[in-house]
Amino acid sequence: MIFEKGRNIPNTFGLDVKAGRWLEYASVEELKALIAEGQISSPYLHVGSGSNLLFLGDFEGTVLHSAIKSIEMVNQDAEKVWLRVGAGVIWDDFVAYCVEHGYYGAENLSLIPGEVGASAVQNIGAYGVEVKDLISCVETVDVHGDKRVFGVEECGYAYRNSVFKRPDMKSFFVTHVTFALNKAEQYTLNYGTIRQELEKYPQIDLATVRQVIVSIRESKLPDPKVLGNAGSFFMNPIVPRAKYETLLQEYPSMPSYQVDATHVKIPAGWMIEQCGWKGKSLGNAAVHDKQALVLVNCGGATGADIVALSDAVRAAVREKFGVEIHPEVNMI
Ligand code: EPU
Repeated sequence: MIFEKGRNIPNTFGLDVKAGRWLEYASVEELKALIAEGQISSPYLHVGSGSNLLFLGDFEGTVLHSAIKSIEMVNQDAEKVWLRVGAGVIWDDFVAYCVEHGYYGAENLSLIPGEVGASAVQNIGAYGVEVKDLISCVETVDVHGDKRVFGVEECGYAYRNSVFKRPDMKSFFVTHVTFALNKAEQYTLNYGTIRQELEKYPQIDLATVRQVIVSIRESKLPDPKVLGNAGSFFMNPIVPRAKYETLLQEYPSMPSYQVDATHVKIPAGWMIEQCGWKGKSLGNAAVHDKQALVLVNCGGATGADIVALSDAVRAAVREKFGVEIHPEVNMI
């Protein structure tokens, strides 16, 4: 168990922010002991590795972090394996584990920053796969020390959303996530340029698909160790079909993804680029020059600098397209 006062809170934007108290636990028993000792009082905040958080200042309360790092096979049948994974496992280490063991399903989510617990809160997604497609249940302990297991259907999963993001659910701490992976070879290859990239390789296997995803991500998304960022800063807006059709008349090359019969998702990165913001900066924050959905800390930015840039970009998109875009990152 680690207990520290005034420690820097990890965050991939590279912002200099401190926790009043930092508590880290390595097992459910340790978490329950902390609760029983009355160590977790309001205000508190549970974090992963801070890859989807934008701190507007120090957090004066208690910051909790899971260091539960187990991966265990809890069940299998002819088609699937079920892996129960600790919330503190680095997400990409889990993907690498699946690829090494020949378990199919997680490979398109290679290289997404963050930890397993946060993946289930945020419903991370990329290249045609969302983590909800792999989850079978999410184990939690609430702030009173009571265990509750949520079956995937109880998690309220939607695009970058789950019940765990609701303000009244912040008292539930994810301890383990159980994933169901396929034993038989199957891939999701229809997104963007994946198939085209795979043609460069003699054969398709799990390691090759992972490699292709890693290289596509590395070509567009900045490495947070070099340039602070939180991946996509905005969600792609989902608009009524009628609105999409009006926009399409004016912008015939506008990319889009059908959501359902009446709704269409439009890439916010494309709209931001059309507004001329790609690669532009405001103060110490900038719109990334290779992917306009990503805002970066050019060095020395504060949370307020990033919010100011976000507000300017949102206003530009609203004015040009009449569409509201919303941050995907959680502001603290
Ligand atoms: N586009 C532009 N200009 C840009 C960026 C994108 O024109 O600057 C266009 C692209 O040409 C393409 C479309 O927009 O036609 C979509 O772009 P891309 O495939 O890069 O994906 P995205 O919609 O911008 C989403 C996720 C990413 C995920 C990718 C790939 C969200 C908020 N973001 O981005 O997730 O990696 O798809 O699946 O849904 C993240 O959540 O942090 C993240 C990186």
